[in-house]
Amino acid sequence: MSSENITSVTRENRKFNPPDEFQAQAHIGSLAKYRRLYRQSVNNPEEFWAKQAEELLLWRKKWRKVLQWKAPHAKWFVGGRLNVAENCLDRHLGTARENKAAIIFEGEGGDERTLTYKQLYHEVCRLANVLEGFGLGKGDRVAIYMPMVPEAAIAMLACARIGAVHTVIFGGFSSEAIKDRVNDCEARLVITADGGWRRGKVVPLKENVDRALEGTPSVEKVLVLRRTGSRVRMKKDRDIWWHDVVPAAAHVHRAKAFDAENPLFILYTSGSTGKPKGVLHTSGGYLLGTTITSKYVFDLKETDTYWCTADVGWITGHSYVVYGILSNGATTLMYEGAPNHPGPDRFWSIIDRHRVTVFYTAPTAIRAFMRWGDEHPKRHDLSSLRLLGTVGEPINPEAWMWYYKVIGGGRCPIVDTWWQTETGAIMITPLPGAIPQKPGSATLPFFGVVPKVVDETGREVPRNTGGKLVITQPWPSMLRTLWGDDDRFKRQYWSDYPGIYFTGDGCRQDEDGYFWIVGRIDDVLNISGHRIGTAEVESALVSHPSVVEAAAIGRPDEIKGQSLVVFVTLKDGVKASEKLKETLRKHVAREIGAIARPDVIRFAAALPKTRSGKIMRRLLKEIAAGGEVKGDTTTLEDFSVLASLQKAD
Ligand code: WT7
Repeated sequence: MSSENITSVTRENRKFNPPDEFQAQAHIGSLAKYRRLYRQSVNNPEEFWAKQAEELLLWRKKWRKVLQWKAPHAKWFVGGRLNVAENCLDRHLGTARENKAAIIFEGEGGDERTLTYKQLYHEVCRLANVLEGFGLGKGDRVAIYMPMVPEAAIAMLACARIGAVHTVIFGGFSSEAIKDRVNDCEARLVITADGGWRRGKVVPLKENVDRALEGTPSVEKVLVLRRTGSRVRMKKDRDIWWHDVVPAAAHVHRAKAFDAENPLFILYTSGSTGKPKGVLHTSGGYLLGTTITSKYVFDLKETDTYWCTADVGWITGHSYVVYGILSNGATTLMYEGAPNHPGPDRFWSIIDRHRVTVFYTAPTAIRAFMRWGDEHPKRHDLSSLRLLGTVGEPINPEAWMWYYKVIGGGRCPIVDTWWQTETGAIMITPLPGAIPQKPGSATLPFFGVVPKVVDETGREVPRNTGGKLVITQPWPSMLRTLWGDDDRFKRQYWSDYPGIYFTGDGCRQDEDGYFWIVGRIDDVLNISGHRIGTAEVESALVSHPSVVEAAAIGRPDEIKGQSLVVFVTLKDGVKASEKLKETLRKHVAREIGAIARPDVIRFAAALPKTRSGKIMRRLLKEIAAGGEVKGDTTTLEDFSVLASLQKAD
């Protein structure tokens, strides 16, 4: 872990109290109520969580013990049994929610579909029957590589219903990325589509799967949804069209109850080495964490139309497009395509036409909207909005203010929600009717969450001093392990401070106890809200025959938060050229996906290293940011490298 000092220079004094009208109707309508509940939740966590689990979820069998904690391994609701899909669907049937919209879908081309809770239930049952017909059941892994269409949620819920473990692979990832993930978890089935729509073009999902599956011995079948109608190759005995089997399947399905700790899904995320980590989430605790945060952070009401713009390929899509929202019986909107297709006002047009009330998106998107101009949101009626949210990276105060004024019309609180793939659910966030917001701060911890800012030795640092963000108590939706690699789980999160979860983020608490996240302090970038390991990009680069060594770093970027700059040392005899840069960009995009395409490639004769051979990224960052290296260079092995790097092109 890096021991660089964490300095935080942001000082923001504006404070926004929840508007009276919002407070009056909110689930948690005062700071005092938040403080009281928070105190209960951390003083008597087991009592608090037992009460919430009973109130918010449907259990087939009650637990014997709320928490079994043998750090770093937690078991929540030990002995309890439930079915996650039943909680998201069946329990709303026979109530007023039965004919309420569960999913409102809008395709990029403008096609629209609404699925009521009852219709969604039947679709999930049909697919669950098909999956069981394939011989799949409890514990089997299923990879889902789909566009943002209702069938993606249906696939997730059908897996949950039969106790299978899904791993959703973001539709922007490449064949290589699919292959690695499928092999790591040994998926037996892949659910995909012929393609998806993105900026008017077809993303060739099935073709990508075909290429990936040349090296995945565990896969027996591929279920293919027809979405774009593009021509695809169907491999005999392996590939099956969704429309050939799902509509014909029985539309009811008896859901079995599974153990609260039955794995629900694996989601791969970036760490500081090249190999993605398979974050494992289980059933009861995860569902409780996402249900309770959805209810209180988004202040969900029966009448809300809620829209989270995240793709189901990310944790945000799991927790706050699908599980937490449907478990609350709310209406979730799904949009398939790009925010600027056919024009830069697409999101505002969606909010206007569907009367969206709660809107949750990422700072990088907000900065892009700012750049595109106020005229686009101004052309639409956004008065249905009552609450806004952000996630993925720190939001800069200018973007916060713009979001507040131009999108929220100065009347909507903003929930800046800090959390991670690993935490499963929101951890630090305003409760919109209770906690005054400061632009740029995720504010205060959610119930049951005990974060601290500590120094290298684990001691809490004084207020307004930078340090590392840790979570000192277990929480229900925490990751349970890394799939197939419990050692890495222990090393990665629990070895810096024994028994305490290390988030990888730098942070400061201000005089009011508000948390200000500074960003990642490990070798992980945050580009447009997506975590990308520097090592992943580097290993993709060195897999190219022209490259001997590479270093990837992030450079501050107005829109993306960070842009990706790579320094590359070429093999002897290979000539540096613009053409080669383009080849390498394409190569990385092919290996990982377009989100990891380097923005800038600089060829360098050598990279700056310590005597022990560690690349000094700090120096590269300074070079990438502006040229001069001012930081400490005493550990540098070869000084001449610096001079030549500054000249590198
Ligand atoms: C990392 C987690 C959680 C879903 C999306 C990303 C950064 C996330 C915030 C926020 C400041 C944030 C952190 C965190 N991050 N939300 N509100 N303020 N930083 O999930 O890919 O697991 O990334 O995103 O650095 O550790 P993820």
